[in-house]
Amino acid sequence: MDNIINKLDKQNLPCHVAIIMDGNGRWAKSLGKSRSFGHKNGVNSVREVTEASAELGIKYLTLYAFSTENWNRPIFEINTLMSLLVSSINKEIKTLIKNNIRLLTIGNTESLPKKVQKELLKAIEITSKHTGLTLVLALSYSSRWEIINAINKLNQDIKNEIVTNDIITEELFSKYLTTHDIPDPDLLIRTSGEYRISNFLLWQIAYSELYFTKKLWPDFNRNDFYEAIFDLQNRERRFGQTSEQIRNK
Ligand code: IPE
Ligand code: IPE
Ligand code: MG
Repeated sequence: MDNIINKLDKQNLPCHVAIIMDGNGRWAKSLGKSRSFGHKNGVNSVREVTEASAELGIKYLTLYAFSTENWNRPIFEINTLMSLLVSSINKEIKTLIKNNIRLLTIGNTESLPKKVQKELLKAIEITSKHTGLTLVLALSYSSRWEIINAINKLNQDIKNEIVTNDIITEELFSKYLTTHDIPDPDLLIRTSGEYRISNFLLWQIAYSELYFTKKLWPDFNRNDFYEAIFDLQNRERRFGQTSEQIRNK
């Protein structure tokens, strides 16, 4: 398993990998520790997968870090996650610079505490000219929020006659999503053995390949990441066509 990276076809890497990073709480519980301990250790997996993506030459990595629904967690846990976000950005900015990584966010970031918004904006600004991996953090994100938000903004632009199209196309609508300019994910990974999407990128994963692993997020390392990509490389993406059509291309 150690040499799994050598089995990867470097000419056929996914352009965009998205991850639902789940299982921090259960990981901590299994060690008799607090959920916060799990979240803190989850940051190591974020660093590892981010570095691995940058090294491989993957263009986009989107990480589901905090969902709209996560606002319903106990206030103590929310505060821990917000502080962790600020301290991680501060600490990891070096990693982003060293690896030529550009940071972006998607989601309703205006609902985040001002301090978090400030740190994020600073890091986004500092890394804005980087040309390697784009790391997209989904924060206060949910797909239904994003879709309704897009419809409202589009509606406003129609009323103000900024948009005069009679017909709304997929392409036009996509421009109003917080993921505008980001290609759809080729691969969506979810850790922790849950088989659900939890309101993540519903529009964008229309044709993504799904990969579920029982590993809890703090245990997920670069080899697990390579394993997921290797799995993807052994699938046939048909996009509605027949196998013969794909092979004769
Ligand atoms: C994922 O781990 C991190 C966030 C959702 C912020 P969880 O906190 O959901 O951990 P489990 O699923 O309870 O184990
Ligand atoms: C999904 O994980 C959200 C993030 C990973 C940020 P959850 O743990 O919140 O999802 P559910 O509630 O189990 O579906
Ligand atoms: Mg969870």
